Amino acid sequence: MAAYDLILKNGTVHLPSGAASIDVGVVAGRIVALGSLAGDDAGETLDCTGLDVLPGVIDTQVHFREPGLVHKEDLESGARAAVLGGVTAVFEMPNTKPNTDSAEAIGDKLARAHHRMWCDHAFYVGATNHNAADLAELERLPGTAGVKIFMGASTGDLLVSEDARLAEVLASGHRRVAIHAEDEARMNARTGERIAGDAASHPVWRDDESALLATRRILGLARAARRRIHVLHVTTPAELALLGQNKDIASCEVTPQHLTLAGEEAYPRLGTLAQMNPPIRSGAHRDGLWKWLQQGVVDILGSDHAPHTLEEKSKPYPDSPSGMPGVQTLLPLMLNHVAEGRTTLQRVIDLTSAGPQRVFGIVGKGRIAVGYDADFSIVDLKARWTIEQDWLASRCGWSPFTGMTVTGRPVGTVVRGNRVMWEGTLAESAIGEPIRFEAIDFG
Ligand code: DOR
Repeated sequence: MAAYDLILKNGTVHLPSGAASIDVGVVAGRIVALGSLAGDDAGETLDCTGLDVLPGVIDTQVHFREPGLVHKEDLESGARAAVLGGVTAVFEMPNTKPNTDSAEAIGDKLARAHHRMWCDHAFYVGATNHNAADLAELERLPGTAGVKIFMGASTGDLLVSEDARLAEVLASGHRRVAIHAEDEARMNARTGERIAGDAASHPVWRDDESALLATRRILGLARAARRRIHVLHVTTPAELALLGQNKDIASCEVTPQHLTLAGEEAYPRLGTLAQMNPPIRSGAHRDGLWKWLQQGVVDILGSDHAPHTLEEKSKPYPDSPSGMPGVQTLLPLMLNHVAEGRTTLQRVIDLTSAGPQRVFGIVGKGRIAVGYDADFSIVDLKARWTIEQDWLASRCGWSPFTGMTVTGRPVGTVVRGNRVMWEGTLAESAIGEPIRFEAIDFG
């Protein structure tokens, strides 16, 4: 009988201690050996010659739209996009139809995901003005990523904007709460800043102060409630400066699109396709996000994959919906930033695997180590290629990054020892399972 179910051979393997030319042995979905496995048998061998083996990329912010909005995406098409892009696990957002704000809704999503998602998955519970009392229990359901609060209205009707209601939500439960930080009252007062037909006015309406004000408020409320928070898709350097002074209670995320696109160029070229919440801002903002990322303040890179159809996006601004797809392009964009010298592969690994593990207390993922899940994103760092529409799997049918030539390509995706993608071809069976968390599944 073979000693291993799977061996990854001849790759450059990115361990917590750094890169090493070693083999990886897998049994029953877990890593059991790191080193030279030259003479050993395996049920399956993956030859990783010339390739880099990264810990599986965990995207902690995606909108896969099921149930209710499946003309934009569903759990199956979203998961296909994820693994084609080298992502092994996702946290999915609660602004579906109905909202994911009850035990039934979480159970429904987990049942829908079973045998239809290729990647591992967890689902956020949405906070509302009425479910605060239930959240402490809801956040402990298996397969739950924790609670998500929209402080400002975005796609859908999930919204908790007043301090008293936010305090109730933060007082109910213990796990880290994910926050969309834009100030609803300020944005409501500024709707006159929107220029009909001009998406470039989106960041004028939802301005820096809208984001900073909300982040400042939630930091104060979180400290008062003694609750840890995670501020999603931060878009202003000022917020990152503030978050850097509050690392004891707050972690934070930036997105690849905010690190890649600059409003001056993106709105004239892409129009409403560049419209998202919080907005794509100026090149100076983008450079400021990089500065704080390089200073170590950013914990996680999430894609905020938020697909809408081209038909929906073709409505004139501001009737056009906010959001862009991104789960499949997260890793290619970041590998390209590595190739262009803006950051290192080590830092990208920290932001896409170790960071999510640490911030959310994920069990058994986030590093290549014996005993951990055998989740790998296998990449060719040297491949130069152009992102084309026919490579993209999201049902929405577009990406702001088509036509972009990048260096660095996902070649294979392995989830708990299962080769779910290799050279752009998917495995037949979708073997994704719920992600386990220390807060729920410990022991
Ligand atoms: O642009 C966005 N789109 N931001 C969000 O917060 C929600 C998302 C969506 O669901 O479309």
